[in-house]
Amino acid sequence: MSRSWGGAPARLRGRSRQCGTVDRLLADVRAGRSRVVVVRGEPGIGKTALLGYAGQSAADSRVARAGGVESEMELPFAALHQLCGPMLDRLDRLPGPQRDALAVAFGLDSGGGPDRFLVGLGVLSLLSEVAMDKPLLCLIDDTQWLDQASAQALAFVARRVDAEPAAVIFGTRDLGAEDDLAGLPDLVLGPLSGADSRELLASAIPGRLDERVRDRIVAESGGNPLALLGFRRGWRGTAGGPDRAEFLAADRFASKDDSAAAAAGSPPNRPATHPCSGELQGALASALAP
Ligand SMILES: Nc1ncnc2c1ncn2[C@@H]1O[C@H](COP(=O)(O)OP(=O)(O)OP(=O)(O)O)[C@@H](O)[C@H]1O
Ligand SMILES: [Mg+2]
Repeated sequence: MSRSWGGAPARLRGRSRQCGTVDRLLADVRAGRSRVVVVRGEPGIGKTALLGYAGQSAADSRVARAGGVESEMELPFAALHQLCGPMLDRLDRLPGPQRDALAVAFGLDSGGGPDRFLVGLGVLSLLSEVAMDKPLLCLIDDTQWLDQASAQALAFVARRVDAEPAAVIFGTRDLGAEDDLAGLPDLVLGPLSGADSRELLASAIPGRLDERVRDRIVAESGGNPLALLGFRRGWRGTAGGPDRAEFLAADRFASKDDSAAAAAGSPPNRPATHPCSGELQGALASALAP
């Protein structure tokens, strides 16, 4: 994920096709065509990493960022404010009703709840204004935690952004077709292949790892990069860090199946107990014993 020396951003392991999609999207934007894509996938699968790749690859563009925050889900327009806050010096260039609606939404003016349609139009106009100077890339992550007012406005914008050199890339854990972004072009991130998982694991762990143990870790990770890399963090186990087996038991993210998580006593989409078997924990502990 780190930028390679003096060149293009390093591609993500096992994600050449997806990085290629991002490259083409950015090329379109540079050529003046708008693009939207929704990156979907389970926790830890690499959505934020891919958005990061996009941000690094867009050095010649203006990059605007926002993300859903679970604790701000009840605050109307919180995420929209993150995205548009740095652009508000352009507010005066907007048609009066749109300007007024955004001013109320962002607490710059008093008034009741602003007209949501005008807010959507206002954001669209603001992004168009900014994109006139330079291609614009909006990265909006964790949309499953967007406040409803922002989610509506951003979906409205994504469906209408048209002739501007602007792109919007969303990242979401929502896999269903029922969210505000339903129907927009999407890019679903699946598990890494076995070969890519083994390489990622090998790159994360210096030295030799017993093949049998490695294959079990790869199998139990389900090709999820967070699970594979999380294993490394646990293994390095610096002072105060978790015990290896303890880490493995705790740091695998919950299944995307909320009902299963709820049945297990965990809130949806939160870290939960790793289904890692006691047998594997034992094998790991002895394989990695100093
Ligand atoms: N293809 C990859 N190659 C190497 N590392 C990766 C890859 N994909 C993800 N990672 C790393 O795996 C970890 C989890 O990835 P990331 O945070 O992007 O997941 P996510 O899908 O955004 O999860 P969440 O839904 O919890 O936000 C990060 O440390 C990330 O840098
Ligand atoms: Mg993420």
